[in-house]
Amino acid sequence: MISKNEIPESLTLKIEKISNLGLGIAKTDGYVIFVPNTCPGDTVKIKIIKKHKSYANAEVVELIEPSPDRIEPFCKLQQVCGACQLQFINYDAQLRYKKEIVEDTMHSILGFDTEVRDVIPSPKTTEYRHKIQYPIGQTKESKRILAGYYKMGTHELINIKYCPIQPEYCDRIIQFIRENAAELKISGYNEKLKKGELRHVVIRTSAKNQKSLIILVVNSEKASDRIKKLAKKIYKELENIAGVIVNFNTKNTNLILGNKSELTEGINFVEEDLCNITFKIGEKTFFQVNPYTADNIFKYIRNYISENYKKPTILDAYAGITAFGICLSDIATKVLSIEEEPESVKLAEKIINENGINNIELKCGDAGRLFSEETVLGREFHITILDPPRKGCTVNSLDYALKLTKDKIIYVSCNPATLARDLKYLSEQGAKIEFIQPFDMFPHTYHIENVAIIDVGTLNKDY
Ligand SMILES: C[S@@+](CC[C@H](N)C(=O)[O-])C[C@H]1O[C@@H](n2cnc3c(N)ncnc32)[C@H](O)[C@@H]1O
Repeated sequence: MISKNEIPESLTLKIEKISNLGLGIAKTDGYVIFVPNTCPGDTVKIKIIKKHKSYANAEVVELIEPSPDRIEPFCKLQQVCGACQLQFINYDAQLRYKKEIVEDTMHSILGFDTEVRDVIPSPKTTEYRHKIQYPIGQTKESKRILAGYYKMGTHELINIKYCPIQPEYCDRIIQFIRENAAELKISGYNEKLKKGELRHVVIRTSAKNQKSLIILVVNSEKASDRIKKLAKKIYKELENIAGVIVNFNTKNTNLILGNKSELTEGINFVEEDLCNITFKIGEKTFFQVNPYTADNIFKYIRNYISENYKKPTILDAYAGITAFGICLSDIATKVLSIEEEPESVKLAEKIINENGINNIELKCGDAGRLFSEETVLGREFHITILDPPRKGCTVNSLDYALKLTKDKIIYVSCNPATLARDLKYLSEQGAKIEFIQPFDMFPHTYHIENVAIIDVGTLNKDY
């Protein structure tokens, strides 16, 4: 491999692959160059931006020959906003590249190849997002309210008037909030000075009935009259608003929601359907970003279990609103659900009662700790579903999951890197990875959801 000092500042290269962060990858004498907004098949003239020991970051100076996979992006802010890194690639090719990303990640972290199946596409590739979270700012001079996303890699707020991957109605809600907040003299938050009243607007829009729950996140301990007036206007003047919540967040933190909130109008949840069961989703409840693909994942796991088991016992860990447990309860003997977020556990209890389900036990707390509780550790489950956040599982919880599971672990993950790390650990303990089924939960972005089926039935459990 040539050294970084030998790399010229400008060169012409062919893009070979896409990285796990959606960047085009080119190589020159074994030295890797990452180029955003490119895809395999592109020949590009690039300028090196930053050199590292074994790789460099570059930008496109000229697209000399475009890849046949290229299309015109349907959002004109695609390159500026940075949320839809792959939108300039046709959808079938996006799915092919995502499969390759999963294969490459598994190969490099696991150290061996494992079967990765073709990505199951999203039933909807625009207007698919259940939740949006816009930071709010304000222009210096005219005091216009800004709402949108931060420009890629910066904290510069882009005022987004139209985002095609979220329901079109969200654009109208946000525009209404911009105009009415300004009229009511509500100030937008200034991140640097930590001043200003309105910090974020979070909208959850139901794919079931298009109702929206609005959360106004404010930089104060209680709702001002201005904010209450805004909440009332939103609820009264816009259609299909389930409710408006004011959330209080005065902390200097990256977390969007503070601990305290107040329901000012309507009800504090929206409804979504999974496997023909209606769930209630609150302000803090985890719910999959794309309800259309989520429904496919739930049906896929349900089919897998009903084809292979007769009334198994199931451990649903990192359960959220116990969506898996509830969807599987009629084909299971017993389900134990473990989730640490209290609002989600309360909502799960409600759905369980409303649906007359009597074979689910709910436990609220940290999975690692509850796995080791006396009342849990003595038991064995045919199937354990692990669906942790992006950071994956702890070694401790993986060890307990192995002890608690008789037959299969079904690991659901939105992060191929932490999935590969955890699969490596499980396979080192003797578990066998059967296959990975990717689903496109996040069309036009590099993100990908995976379901891994892991056989632990042959392990000697006497340790
Ligand atoms: C990716 S979500 C999955 C939720 C659910 N399976 C679903 O599909 O709706 C991960 C969930 O794990 C919960 N969680 C995160 N860390 C946890 C921990 N240490 N113990 C228990 N639950 C945890 C989060 O609150 C969140 O609800």
